[in-house]
Amino acid sequence: MKINQNFLNLQGSYLFSTVGAKCATYRAEHPDREVIKLSIGDVTRPLAPIVVDAMKRAADEMADAATFKGYGPDATCYGYEQLIGSIRAHYARRGVVLASDEIFISDGAKSDLSNILDLFSADNTVLVPDPVYPVYVDTNIMAGRRILYADANRENDFLPLPDPEVHADIIYICSPNNPTGAAYQREGLKAWVDYALREDALILYDAAYEAFLEGDLPHSIFEIEGARDCAVEVCSYSKTAGFTGVRCGYTVIPSTLKREGVSIGKLWARRQSTKFNGVSYITQMGAAAVFTEEGERQIRENIAYYKRNAQTIGRMLDAHGIYYTGGKHSPYIWMQCPAGMKSWEFFDLLLENANVVGTPGSGFGKNGEGFFRLTAFATAENTEKACARMGDYIKTL
Ligand code: MLT
Repeated sequence: MKINQNFLNLQGSYLFSTVGAKCATYRAEHPDREVIKLSIGDVTRPLAPIVVDAMKRAADEMADAATFKGYGPDATCYGYEQLIGSIRAHYARRGVVLASDEIFISDGAKSDLSNILDLFSADNTVLVPDPVYPVYVDTNIMAGRRILYADANRENDFLPLPDPEVHADIIYICSPNNPTGAAYQREGLKAWVDYALREDALILYDAAYEAFLEGDLPHSIFEIEGARDCAVEVCSYSKTAGFTGVRCGYTVIPSTLKREGVSIGKLWARRQSTKFNGVSYITQMGAAAVFTEEGERQIRENIAYYKRNAQTIGRMLDAHGIYYTGGKHSPYIWMQCPAGMKSWEFFDLLLENANVVGTPGSGFGKNGEGFFRLTAFATAENTEKACARMGDYIKTL
């Protein structure tokens, strides 16, 4: 028996597990100190009432033999009509017309972004921005793929554009971006779509943070002409509607999208029906309530709450003259570490001196060195407390 040697090329642990473990050790060693976590992007607001009501009604249906549900509908990869219909309506409001069989329901974006790699040869070259959500890199290392990096930095506003000299087969784009919070305008996304079409490449578009966008920025890659021939879009209810503990997401694969003459959607349906049994009916009914008119209104309140937290963090950084980006179209603030510190150095000192945990930028790639990511997903009270402590500590540097 042989193991997959590619796993040995991974770093010892997943970035957020490393941060979590360090935080747990510190708490165990200092039980008297209250540590505030602004690290992993985990939500704190409760589910919107309309979602909870829909889930309760669905639970009642499961209690009655006449309305009980077993496995979900196979034909649509286990997505119930109510949920698929509400996602189609959500896209239609942005002028994107999707057919029901182009939407695949899952337990979240992270799983889909990883699992979809089953469909593609290990020979493909992958292009990811740097810094980047570590899942894109780690899952490709597990499969043994060659990875190229597109530099995202202050010079290009953390929004790299394609290099015509470089060939890639699989391209990851996350907009608004995790970790930097940068969001592409239409022109930027068009440049990537044109590049992908030229290179016969496939874009894996992560739209997990689209609900945070403000103004006239594209929420979906399918708002860009040509994207139906080169892109798959993955989205999640986690950040949009606080589903990190509920688990529901969806992937959009245009029916016309093919590579080597093979339909990507058909391959994905084949993969999912073999390896996955769908998302619970109760969860799907809760998710279906999110994109109703009232659902949209209620989730906006939670997003506005997190944006106020982002502003609190921004004001603290402004007061100390620290460069940062993000926080406007995204729940993440991407700050330069003070006093020229490296990312993990600042992590350790901030934990020790302010009892605040963030995510070291270098964990997202080499261009993240010297940066630090803070999330706006904590409670307002904890965000304010953390900012006061951070400010007091930064003053001493
Ligand atoms: C993050 O903190 O980057 C995300 O919450 C992690 C995730 O969504 O998997």
